[in-house]
Amino acid sequence: MATTTTPPPPRQRGRFGLAKCAALTLLSLIVLAGLAVLIAWLVIHPRRLVFTVDDAYIDHYNLTKDHLDATFDLSLRAYNPNRRVSVYYDDIQVTVEYDHQGLASTTAEPFFQGHRNETELHVMPQAWDVALHSPASKILRTERSSGAVQLEVRLHAKVRFKVGIWKSRHRLLRVYCAPVLGLFTRARSFGTKDCDVDL
Ligand SMILES: *[C@@H]1O[C@H](CO)[C@@H](O)[C@H](O)[C@H]1NC(C)=O
Ligand SMILES: *[C@@H]1O[C@H](CO)[C@@H](O)[C@H](O)[C@H]1NC(C)=O
Repeated sequence: MATTTTPPPPRQRGRFGLAKCAALTLLSLIVLAGLAVLIAWLVIHPRRLVFTVDDAYIDHYNLTKDHLDATFDLSLRAYNPNRRVSVYYDDIQVTVEYDHQGLASTTAEPFFQGHRNETELHVMPQAWDVALHSPASKILRTERSSGAVQLEVRLHAKVRFKVGIWKSRHRLLRVYCAPVLGLFTRARSFGTKDCDVDL
């Protein structure tokens, strides 16, 4: 069958061909980059960091006229379940809250955590003359007389990940543990509280 359409002028066709070629190249580059990311992800297989609170004790407790003094003796455990990813923890801050009110805060020593490593963090934030709102101090008194206080523990840290020789930028790690039972005697233990980990 004979066609009656005339072919486009050569310059136009050339330009079209070039654009098509560029588009195809770009497309294959995008597909290749996507594949590379997928393969890297499958090989590295990143897994969420795990945090627990193992013990929380309250010392030097003194609640007078809705003002609180206390020392919190906290044992936290950080576990890195990854086989290829290690973690730098920089700027670690641990805060104790009661009824969503901050009571005490402290920093922890920065550390490097290798593959499959478990590290214990021991911190002792101190509340010093903290003014509680009066409903909170009422519940706190009741809980105190029952022998355990329901605390909330937060850990914020700037973390960097390391895979081989590659290091990521800083990201904010947010860990929230609640309720954590603060005890007044070391003769008891409340077991382990798993934390929510947000990155
Ligand atoms: C508790 O705190 C109040 C007010 O700060 C103080 O007067 C009192 O001596 C403290 N009690 C103890 C046992 O430290
Ligand atoms: C985790 O790493 C720390 C610091 O490098 C080390 O002291 C500790 O023994 C390691 N723990 C385990 C269970 O490998």
